[in-house]
Order: sequence, then C-alpha cells, then structure tokens
Amino acid sequence: MSTYQVGYFVGSLSSKSINRELSKVLVRLAPGDLEFTEIPIRDLPLYSPDYDASYPPEAVALKDAIQRSQAILFVTPEYNRSIPGALKNAIDWASRPWGTNSFDHVPTAVIGASIGAIGTALAQQSLRAVLSFCNARQMTSPEAYLHFTPETFPGDGQVTNESTREFLANYLAEFRDHIARVLTVLPRQS
Ligand code: FNR
Repeated sequence: MSTYQVGYFVGSLSSKSINRELSKVLVRLAPGDLEFTEIPIRDLPLYSPDYDASYPPEAVALKDAIQRSQAILFVTPEYNRSIPGALKNAIDWASRPWGTNSFDHVPTAVIGASIGAIGTALAQQSLRAVLSFCNARQMTSPEAYLHFTPETFPGDGQVTNESTREFLANYLAEFRDHIARVLTVLPRQS
C-alpha cells in the first residue's frame, strides 16, 4: 500500500481558529495511508514580484514543503465571501517566480468551516477559481461545507455527531482515491 504525504494549509491565523480545529479532526479521521504535515503561512511577508530574484527563507520553505507533498489540502474560513488574505498571499508566493508554479498538476482538495450556515461555500468557489488558474488537479466531489458548532466539534479533534464523522471520513477516503488517480498519470517529481 502506498503512503501519500499530504501538506495542508489552514487559511486562518486566529489563535481560536475553528478551521484549525477542523484540520485536527481531519487528521484524526484520515485513512492510514495519508500522512499530514501543516504548511505554515503565518510568517510570510506580503508577496511582491520584487522578491522573485531572491525569495526570503519563509517563502523558500513554503515552496519546498509543497514540493515534498504529494497532495495539498486547503482548510479555510470564509472572509467577506472569499478566502482570507493570508491564504491568498501564500498561494501567490507558491505560484511564483513565473515558470515555477508549485501547484502545477498537484492533487488538491478544499474544505472549510464557518459559524454561518453556508459553511464557506463562497470562499471555496473563490479558492477553486484560483487553483484552476494554478493548474492544480482539484477533487470536485464530494464538496464539504461545514457549519461549525462547539457541540459538534468540542475540541481536540473530536466529533460528537456520527453522521458528520461518517461524512468527513468518506470525504477523506475520496481524497485518497483522487490522489491515487492523479498520481497514476501525473507522478510527482521530488
Ligand atoms: C468572517 N466570518 C464570515 N463567515 C461566513 O460564513 N462568511 C463570511 O463571508 C464571513 N466573513 C468574515 C470576515 C472576517 C474578516 C471575519 C473575521 C469573519 C465569520 C467566520 O466564519 C468566523 O469568524 C470563523 O470563526 C472564521 O474561521 P476561523 O478563523 O475561526 O478558522
């Protein structure tokens, strides 16, 4: 059985992030052949093409971490009907310098939790448009729009609701299958 290295982004910088809690849940529920490593975005400066000639260490580390990953998972909040600036900034760094787009052909999936009922649906649509341009190989189904409540997600990666747990486990199993399919025809060169 192959083991797949999955790098994941948490789109929030909040110390109380519900999406970080969701990422803990996902790591706990994932199939045994997925190994998760967070790719940090907090310390990246704001991207400018002026850096293209000499990327700072944080941005080099970002691109190296994506290169070591066989797939990428985005766990993101919705901010003002789109993705947080910190996540967009990280994607912009990874997509450059021109000709070295780190997301090219990489298997990806998106998921997010919101305190509102739409569960990051619009943020995910916005992120999908960005990832399309970055030529990432996106899992298009199942989608996962989560309405976060402390009752369902009490902390420490726990889920109290059995149907939510099953839904997330199935989402992760589908992601594993998506990774396997993409890498069969587009193996990662690392
Ligand atoms: C939000 N929130 C929010 N929620 C939503 O469902 N749609 C939205 O467009 C927004 N917009 C928005 C903008 C900004 C600047 C903030 C700070 C918040 C509420 C959001 O769902 C809530 O704060 C979550 O807790 C954010 O996820 P993290 O940061 O806790 O992971």
